[in-house]
Amino acid sequence: MEQTFLMVKPDGVQRNLVGDIVSRFERKGFKLAGAKLMQISDELAKTHYGEHQDKPFFGELVEFITSGPVFAMVWEGENVISTARDMMGKTNPLEAAPGTIRGDYGMTVGKNIIHGSDSSESAKKEIGLFFQEDEIKSYSKQDSEWIY
Ligand code: PPS
Repeated sequence: MEQTFLMVKPDGVQRNLVGDIVSRFERKGFKLAGAKLMQISDELAKTHYGEHQDKPFFGELVEFITSGPVFAMVWEGENVISTARDMMGKTNPLEAAPGTIRGDYGMTVGKNIIHGSDSSESAKKEIGLFFQEDEIKSYSKQDSEWIY
């Protein structure tokens, strides 16, 4: 079953949005496979956002993502990578549709509440960067006919 890496960024944690965000993915029907509140190190931030190292906003991005705790998660389900991206909304919250996480809560492209893997390659890489194997749980739900 497909898995993705999602992370409530420091602004989302500060604004008490963790519960709402977890609830959205639960109610959609996806399955939580791993989750933890953590402080990202400078080194992890630079590795995670390595593809953006030449962008003018790289320093700001690293500074922001290491500025306070994030809530890192692994979610599981059919097509979860692209569906989660749809539920997050566009990167720039001012362009994100109402009803999406960024459309409902975000104000700036720098502080846009949530990160989500954009492909199966980045999902695998990001899950491996943030989670040990034994932190990812495999379990079945009783009503598995309707939800993952
Ligand atoms: S790009 O240039 O299209 O590849 O970048 P983009 O996909 O839009 O954004 C990549 C991540 O960088 C964050 N970002 C910024 N942070 C701080 N300041 C500015 N100006 C800025 N612009 C983009 C953006 O939120 C993306 O973070 P993630 O966590 O991947 O969503």
